[in-house]
Amino acid sequence: MPQQVQAVIAPGKNEPVRVETIVIPDPGPGEAVVKIQACGVCHTDLHYKQGGINDEFPFLLGHEAAGVVESVGEGVTDVAPGDFVILNWRAVCGQCRACLRGRPWYCFDTHNAKQKMTLLDGTELSPALGIGAFAEKTLVASGQCTKVDPEVAPEVAGLLGCGVMAGIGAAINTGQVGRGDSVAVIGCGGVGDAAIAGSRLAGAAKIIAVDIDDRKLETARAMGATHTVNSRTSDPVEAIRALTDGNGADVVIEAVGRPETYEQAFYARDLAGTVVLVGVPTPDMKLELPLLDVFGRGGSLKSSWYGDCLPSRDFPMLVDLHQQGRLDLAAFVTETIGLGDVEEAFAKMHDGNVLRSVVVF
Ligand code: APR
Ligand code: ZN
Ligand code: ZN
Repeated sequence: MPQQVQAVIAPGKNEPVRVETIVIPDPGPGEAVVKIQACGVCHTDLHYKQGGINDEFPFLLGHEAAGVVESVGEGVTDVAPGDFVILNWRAVCGQCRACLRGRPWYCFDTHNAKQKMTLLDGTELSPALGIGAFAEKTLVASGQCTKVDPEVAPEVAGLLGCGVMAGIGAAINTGQVGRGDSVAVIGCGGVGDAAIAGSRLAGAAKIIAVDIDDRKLETARAMGATHTVNSRTSDPVEAIRALTDGNGADVVIEAVGRPETYEQAFYARDLAGTVVLVGVPTPDMKLELPLLDVFGRGGSLKSSWYGDCLPSRDFPMLVDLHQQGRLDLAAFVTETIGLGDVEEAFAKMHDGNVLRSVVVF
């Protein structure tokens, strides 16, 4: 029987979001209905509301979530009712050329639930990143559910579903930060701070945090930064070089998504170093670099999609490290809020005062 639940809808471009009753169909083949316990408020949700992703309104927002599987459809064997899961927005297919070559974290054909959730009048909803978890329950593809240790707090676990995973993965998976490396992270929001925490976890010797906001630099230090640079008041490239014997960092992670900060990252890395772009640019942005410098400085320039994570490998591992006290995921939760507080959380995000507001059910 289809169920009716409360959920946060973005009805139209720049219109305030509101809580409405939605209809969740029973899970079909390969699908699961998940009872959501917590869901973080991410910038991408705000971008959907602003019409910055596409025009397929109304959106069912929310995608950084954890909860318990309520029911599964035909043929689902990877998860079962009662499993505590983190939702991911890249359910790998196992069939595409990336998957077949043993690189499923790059999967080029990820999938979501086939059936649609709707408003009471039958209007089809577009779930944010194929999830839609500012809702008491949501419908996803079973591959979007990753089972983890149920002892972890849901508001902490859910964050691994997006921004925190992107940042940790940018350091560990994409940047391949190793013991003794020097790392610089440009932009210390939730993603940059997670890259800092990931670098610390990987054993980096020096972690330089760069931001234009001193409050962000303070938090970055708590996350594991050994040095901080305010790039509004000092040149970040010179500062990073000065902190690395004049050489530049082994790995520089760009977590803003702008050409000027990318250029800083490019020149702030050591010869043969690595630049990781995890910040997401907008379509109008252009980059101009001397090609000779691209060649002459060697190394690698990489992009990090969702931290190049493989949810089945990375989510349980990071939850376990958190449970062991080796990775403080709780530090990313600034506040817990109710389903009706998402609009207000967007405003706070804009002021730059929160790492994550998390809706708890
Ligand atoms: N130089 C350095 N830091 C900057 C600059 C700049 N020119 N401009 C902004 N910042 C800092 C902000 O002060 C803030 O601390 O970058 C940080 C961005 O953080 P958030 O807005 O909280 O964004 P976050 O969620 O961390 O995401 C960062 O990654 O996944 C992408 O879409 C996401 O592009 C975004 C990026
Ligand atoms: Zn694939
Ligand atoms: Zn997100």
